[in-house]
Amino acid sequence: MVIKEAKFLMSNTRVEECPVPDKPEYAFIGRSNVGKSSLINMLTEQKNLAKTSASPGKTQLINHFLINNEWYLVDLPGYGYAKVGKESRESWRKMINYYFQKRENLTCVFVLIDSRHEPLKADLEFINKLGTMGVPFVLVFTKTDKQSAAKTDSTIAVYTRKLQETWDELPRMFRTSSAERVGRDELLNFIQEINEQ
Ligand code: GTP
Ligand code: MG
Repeated sequence: MVIKEAKFLMSNTRVEECPVPDKPEYAFIGRSNVGKSSLINMLTEQKNLAKTSASPGKTQLINHFLINNEWYLVDLPGYGYAKVGKESRESWRKMINYYFQKRENLTCVFVLIDSRHEPLKADLEFINKLGTMGVPFVLVFTKTDKQSAAKTDSTIAVYTRKLQETWDELPRMFRTSSAERVGRDELLNFIQEINEQ
């Protein structure tokens, strides 16, 4: 897929105020600092479309972008950010749950996982929740430039084993590096295939 146009539409906390659900929607989520905004910028070839930050917890709202006037891309706030208090965590959980339940055009969720780290409780809980809710999702292993391919393979193998304990069918898995532009074609082709169905 060629990205001809990518524009920011709006940020909000309420599903009711999101753009009219008349186009397929792909949402990006993962732990704080996992590289969501960087990946969105890499995919759209825009330096600052989604705001990136070295300090975690930058993205707090549901951020909608319109791509090629054809599909919505959504940058969701990250989970598992230790410095956020109990109350904000609870409001995040409510907002995200409501978004997953109510957003009728939600086509696929990209769950970003730092390819350097073994599965963390927050990641597994979140993945299992998506599975239980029946939300279609794939896993995206980010920042692969930070270590050897063998280390990335071993992280993916551990996730695979963990998920096999609960699920018969495994989600699709992608490897990306925003720094080295790895995984761009794979993700965009995946989206295009679904859009054309
Ligand atoms: P929040 O919105 O705060 O939850 O973070 P985020 O998931 O949007 O992460 P963001 O894209 O802001 O990136 C966090 C940090 O990781 C930044 O310092 C990025 O430059 C760095 N980073 C993101 N992706 C990559 C990557 O593929 N490779 C490398 N080496 N660094 C990356
Ligand atoms: Mg972000």
